[in-house]
Amino acid sequence: MSPSAALGRVVAIYPGSFDPITSGHLDLIARGRRISDHLVVAVLENESKRALFSMEERVEMMREVMKPYPDVEVDSFKGLLVEYASTRGANVILRGIRAVSDYEYELQMALMNRRLRPEIETVFLMAGEAYSFVSSRLVKEVIALGGNIEGLVPKLVEERLKRRLQGETRK
Ligand code: PNS
Repeated sequence: MSPSAALGRVVAIYPGSFDPITSGHLDLIARGRRISDHLVVAVLENESKRALFSMEERVEMMREVMKPYPDVEVDSFKGLLVEYASTRGANVILRGIRAVSDYEYELQMALMNRRLRPEIETVFLMAGEAYSFVSSRLVKEVIALGGNIEGLVPKLVEERLKRRLQGETRK
């Protein structure tokens, strides 16, 4: 399909595991709101169960953190992202790029998604440079080892992480 028709109303899906939400994710959501008419943050329901927080917990934390942005919808999905996007009437998938190292994986996913659903565009946004090193994986590792992650995740997420990871190590 050649990309000729204008997108019109932009309904954007920002998908991710969000295990847990970081300040980098929040930065991207703030940017995503500016370029879409409706933004849906979609939390992946991982089948593998390897997430630290359950899907319900991740959705609940996201809803809490999104309270200042009532226009942003928080939802969950499982299965193929493009199928979910399609059922939601979305025409854009938003993804964040922190550094060149993100690009290869993101490009692969974007091209696969385009092959599956050519009408849905993936739009990459650059995360704020202050968050270019922040990832959910590193944040979990640092806090589990007693390091300070203040400012790298929302306050309520920091508290939940401490309870889950530092509480567990003290047992
Ligand atoms: O930010 P994350 O956690 O790396 O997000 C990855 C995500 C959720 C975007 C990706 O794993 C995904 O889209 N999963 C849904 C299954 C799917 O559609 N797979 C094919 C991707 S090309």
